[in-house]
Amino acid sequence: MASSALICDTQPWKDLKAHLEDVKKTHLRDLLSDAERCKSMMVDFDGITLDYSRQRATPQTLGQLYKLAEAAHLKEKINRMFNGERINSTENRSVLHVALRAPRDAVINSDGKNVVPDVWNVLDKIKEFSEKVRSGSWVGATGKPLTNVISVGIGGSFLGPLFVHTALQTDPEASKSAKGRQLRFLANVDPIDVARNITGLNPETTLVVVVSKTFTTAETMLNARTLRAWISKELGPSAVAKHMVAVSTNLKLVEEFGIDPKNAFAFWDWVGGRYSVCSAVGVLPLSLQYGFPVVEKFLKGAASIDQHFYSTPFEKNIPVLLGLLSVWNVSFFGYSARAILPYSQALEKFAPHIQQVSMESNGKGVSIDGKPLPLETGEIDFGEPGTNGQHSFYQLIHQGRVIPCDFIGVVKSQQPVYLEGEVVNNHDELMSNFFAQPDALAYGKTPEQLQQENVSSHLIPHKTFSGNRPSLSLLLASLDSYKVGQLLAIYEHRVAVQGFIWGINSFDQWGVELGKSLATQVRKQLNASRTKGETVQGFNFSTATMLTKYLK
Ligand code: F6P
Repeated sequence: MASSALICDTQPWKDLKAHLEDVKKTHLRDLLSDAERCKSMMVDFDGITLDYSRQRATPQTLGQLYKLAEAAHLKEKINRMFNGERINSTENRSVLHVALRAPRDAVINSDGKNVVPDVWNVLDKIKEFSEKVRSGSWVGATGKPLTNVISVGIGGSFLGPLFVHTALQTDPEASKSAKGRQLRFLANVDPIDVARNITGLNPETTLVVVVSKTFTTAETMLNARTLRAWISKELGPSAVAKHMVAVSTNLKLVEEFGIDPKNAFAFWDWVGGRYSVCSAVGVLPLSLQYGFPVVEKFLKGAASIDQHFYSTPFEKNIPVLLGLLSVWNVSFFGYSARAILPYSQALEKFAPHIQQVSMESNGKGVSIDGKPLPLETGEIDFGEPGTNGQHSFYQLIHQGRVIPCDFIGVVKSQQPVYLEGEVVNNHDELMSNFFAQPDALAYGKTPEQLQQENVSSHLIPHKTFSGNRPSLSLLLASLDSYKVGQLLAIYEHRVAVQGFIWGINSFDQWGVELGKSLATQVRKQLNASRTKGETVQGFNFSTATMLTKYLK
């Protein structure tokens, strides 16, 4: 594509800069008193309500953000993604994670070929294999059923599946079908992670799924070799065929590793690692644990948001609205962080997953055309489930730095508890906080209010809350596998919207390469020092000194 102007040089960007000064004059307290404004800032779609009335924005802001979206060619970029164009230009790849959850009869082309049949071939293979393992018709080398699975992978080959697994653990439907089974994740190359994973497991009843898009990631391959040795030592080398399977785009390397290609589950280079949970990367381990029907429902949830994202006008399009508001917060207000605060323990691994989806995608220094950017992209994402976070870092959010917050709540708990004699049940107690925190951030508390409460004057500055701190709320009707899929897709697309507006490539990750190649040099040195006693050389003073200490 021809090189285009930087978004910050466009008129809508400049207009928004000017408009910002007006918005800054208005406190959220006042904005929230306008019921018409608040009504216009609520969207309902398929069991999800978005309320963004606590953003520091007016209807005029939204109008100007839509103009910015037009200047950034947002609609065309979304269409290009869904049409399988190679929008990941630095890797010359399409970006088609939406095809992973498309219905069987959908047509999504990459290079003129409909990829949906390939997707469903793999899904059918996973369904068949997972049913065999779960029913006990596929057994281990000693004839025992494989009730335990260790999924070995890192980054996108780990965080998404871990998030979904954690979210479904207490879902009544999913937990029922997971009875008697365990799913563990081995990600870190730290031997402690290996020890923790195999503790209490018997290789006779364990299936190892090696998950790596490239099948070259150093950590994953070492962990895979370690578990292969664990299985071979206990059961003999021939047991590997029954106890190890793989998920990868590189089936040649899978075979070279010693895994039968018949037991390899493919995906494609048009699936980015951090967008791969809906491929065999997530679908295989999750189907082994919960059964394919539960995972199929998760895919349907994600597909419902894909359709919504693709076809809904921006005014009612949840991922688009979220993306535009994030750009507003990051690039205009200069808020550099975003807190993801699910009021659901089941979503405890959501923020870590979104950290990778967002920060690996949008933490870039140049435009998609390679021009240095005069603006900062991406934000620092972090989060913890409420109410735990309230007793940890919320102090800073209330009285320290301004950090836009995403509050995520659920109407119907996965596991409600009703205590006899108590009207407000445990879930109501949790949700009381979900509803209270956004208002505490928005309204704050003035010195006048404190005076009226007879607070001693020396404490008034300490007890004052400036308020005017933005947040948004997402209320989900429930948290079953369908809703988990929806939530995932909302955040994936929001990140894409931000990148499309900023004019960057959200689908490459060159920033992870330098550290990897320096580690290769260190590894070579450790090898040479340990095998041939070579002294440390070729490093700066600091690294050489520390390495020498380590080797001693
Ligand atoms: O560290 C970067 C990265 O390439 C991620 O983008 C990716 O999710 C992860 O490593 C794992 O890669 P692979 O699936 O190829 O092992």
